[in-house]
Amino acid sequence: MYEILKSAHSGWRYLVLALLVFAVVQALSGWFGKKAYTEGNRKLNVFTLISAHIQLVFGAILYFLSPLTKGPMSDPIYRHWKVEHISIMIIAIVLITIGNAKSKKVTDSVAKHKNIAVFFGVALVLLIVGIFMIVKTGQIASFFGMS
Ligand code: HEM
Ligand code: HEM
Repeated sequence: MYEILKSAHSGWRYLVLALLVFAVVQALSGWFGKKAYTEGNRKLNVFTLISAHIQLVFGAILYFLSPLTKGPMSDPIYRHWKVEHISIMIIAIVLITIGNAKSKKVTDSVAKHKNIAVFFGVALVLLIVGIFMIVKTGQIASFFGMS
């Protein structure tokens, strides 16, 4: 169960990352190009949100199963898995959720694109930083690597 979830959580990041990159590019082009906010735009943003929420569920279960969360905080590796990884990733997922909700509240198309661009954009930066932090722990060999 642990191994399956670990691989699922590790592999799922490609989907979250890819969707997030597409969503940010789409939102920036909509914002600066003053484009209409289409049903296709909305769907991509919601799929991005759903992929992030599914990653949250995988991660939350893993937190209890993983041996990497069962050591002293004084050890940098255990501290990474106990607090740093989940803090940075949960903040990123919360930003995606807020960005999506804010884009639904405003009526103007450009304002919708802007909310997505800003919130999803910061989330993307956090996700990339968070993955490089995992590489630093040695758990995965590279940004796109698996353990
Ligand atoms: C989009 C957000 C996230 C991304 C991209 C992400 C990515 C990753 C990656 C690449 C690994 C390494 C897996 C491996 O060993 O091969 C990992 C491990 C882990 N993640 Fe996340 N994660 C995210 C969110 C979360 C959240 C929200 C939690 C907890 C609530 C979490 C808990 C864990 C735990 C406990 C491990 C250690 C698994 C092990 O024993 O190796 N993750 N994550
Ligand atoms: C720990 C688990 C989860 C938490 C804490 C969580 C939390 C939230 C929150 C706070 C919202 C924002 C509602 C709003 O826009 O005001 C939301 C929306 C949403 N979540 Fe999750 N969620 C979780 C898991 C999931 C899962 C597993 C899925 C799908 C498989 C999912 C799909 C969605 C969808 C579709 C929306 C609405 C998006 C929209 O129509 O704008 N969530 N969730």
